[in-house]
Amino acid sequence: MANKADVSTGTSPAGLRGVAAATSSISDVDGEKGELIYQGHNIHDLAQHSTFEEVIFLIWNKRLPSRAELSAVAESLRASYAVPAELIELMKQFPREADPIDVLRTAVSALEFYDPNARDISRDTSIKTAIRLTAQFPTIVAASDRIRRGLEAINPDPGLNISGNFLYMLRGEKPSEREARIFDVCLILHADHELNASTFTARVVAGTLADMYAAVTAAIGALSGPLHGGANTNVMKTLLEIGSVENVESFIRKALAEKRKIMGFGHAVYKTEDPRATHLRQFSKEMGETAGESKWYEMSGKIEEVMRREKGLYPNVDFFSASTYYMMGIPLDLYTPIFAVSRISGWTGHILEQYADNKLIRPRAEYVGPRDLPYVPIDQR
Ligand code: COA
Repeated sequence: MANKADVSTGTSPAGLRGVAAATSSISDVDGEKGELIYQGHNIHDLAQHSTFEEVIFLIWNKRLPSRAELSAVAESLRASYAVPAELIELMKQFPREADPIDVLRTAVSALEFYDPNARDISRDTSIKTAIRLTAQFPTIVAASDRIRRGLEAINPDPGLNISGNFLYMLRGEKPSEREARIFDVCLILHADHELNASTFTARVVAGTLADMYAAVTAAIGALSGPLHGGANTNVMKTLLEIGSVENVESFIRKALAEKRKIMGFGHAVYKTEDPRATHLRQFSKEMGETAGESKWYEMSGKIEEVMRREKGLYPNVDFFSASTYYMMGIPLDLYTPIFAVSRISGWTGHILEQYADNKLIRPRAEYVGPRDLPYVPIDQR
C-alpha cells in the first residue's frame, strides 16, 4: 500500500487500477487470459459440475465440501429462508415505485434489528449470519416484487434449493428443472469476482469491525451503480430501445460517435472475453429458443460483432445475463438484485476473510488542492 511518500509522487492510478488493495484466496481474475478461479477452481468446471450451494461452501471454507458437509450447509440455508414477519410488514410500507435494489438495501439494513447476535463477529457467529443473509436475500427480492404488485409474498419452500426456491417465490410456480439449473449456474457465475467495487466496499466497512449487516448494506449500495451491477438492467433497456437486429449497426455506431458507453461491454480487468459471458451467451440462446423468441439473442450477437469491430471491446457478465433473465420473464429492475442474490456469497466470504486477519483499510488521498491560503473574513470575500 502507498505510504505518504508514495502519495506525494502523484502516481496513484486513476480508479486504483492494477493496485492490489488486499490479499485474498477467494477468487482471482486473469484479465489477459480471460480466466476466473474460485479458490483455485476454474469457473468453467464449477459452471459445469457444481451447484450454487457447493460454491457458497467453497467460498466460505476455502475448499470443496464432502457430501455430508454439503448437505449440512444446504440444510442450514433452507432452514433460514424465511425472513422475520416484521420485515415483510415493513416492506409493505415502502413506496410501490421504489427500485427493488434500494428495497433490498433498506431491508437488509433492517434485518440486523432481528438478529440478536448481529454484533458478534466471531467466525462461528459470522458464518451463521452469512447463512441467514445468503438464505434470505432471495426471499426479500421475491417478496419485494410481489408486494409492489399488490400480491402476498410467497412463503419459501425449504424443499427447494436457492435457485428453485427463488423462482418459485417470484412466480408462485415451480420452475422446470432445466430453468432452475440455468439460474443456478447464473448464481455460480456471479458469486465472486475478486476486489470489485462492491466487495471492496464490504471489506472497507468490515475493516472498521462494523458488523456483517453494515458491510453488506454498503456493498449493495455500491452494486446498484450503473457502472457495476446496475449495468445488466441497462443492457436490456438498450436492447428494447434498439428493437431489431436491423437497427443494431446504426444505433451502436451513433452511440459510440456520441461517446456513449454501451452497457455490458468493457471491463476494468478483462482485456479479452469475460469467461462468465461464455456460459451466459449459451443460456441466452437456449432460453430464447425455449421461449420461441431468439430476437434478443440475435441482437446481442450483432451488438457483440459491432463492438468488437468498432472498439475492440468484449461483452462482460452483464451483457448476456440480461437477455437470459428477460427470457425467463423476470422484471428488468430485478436483474441487479439477482446479482446481489448471488454476490452475497462472495461479499460474506470476503467479510469473513477480513475479520480473520483485520487491518483497518485507510489509504491516503493524493492532495491536489492549494496550501497556505490566508483566512479571509467572510465579509471581505
Ligand atoms: N462502451 C463504449 N466504450 C467503452 C465502454 C463501453 N461499454 N467501456 C469502455 N469504453 C471505452 C472508453 O470510452 C475508453 O475509451 P477512450 O480511451 O477512447 O476514452 C476506453 O474504452 C477505456 O474505458 P474505461 O472506462 O477507462 O475502462 P475502465 O476499465 O476504466 O472501465 C468499465 C471499465 C466497466 C467501467 C467500462 O468498460 C464501462 O463503463 N462499461 C459499461 C458498464 C458495464 O457494463 N459495467 C459492468 C462491468 S462488469
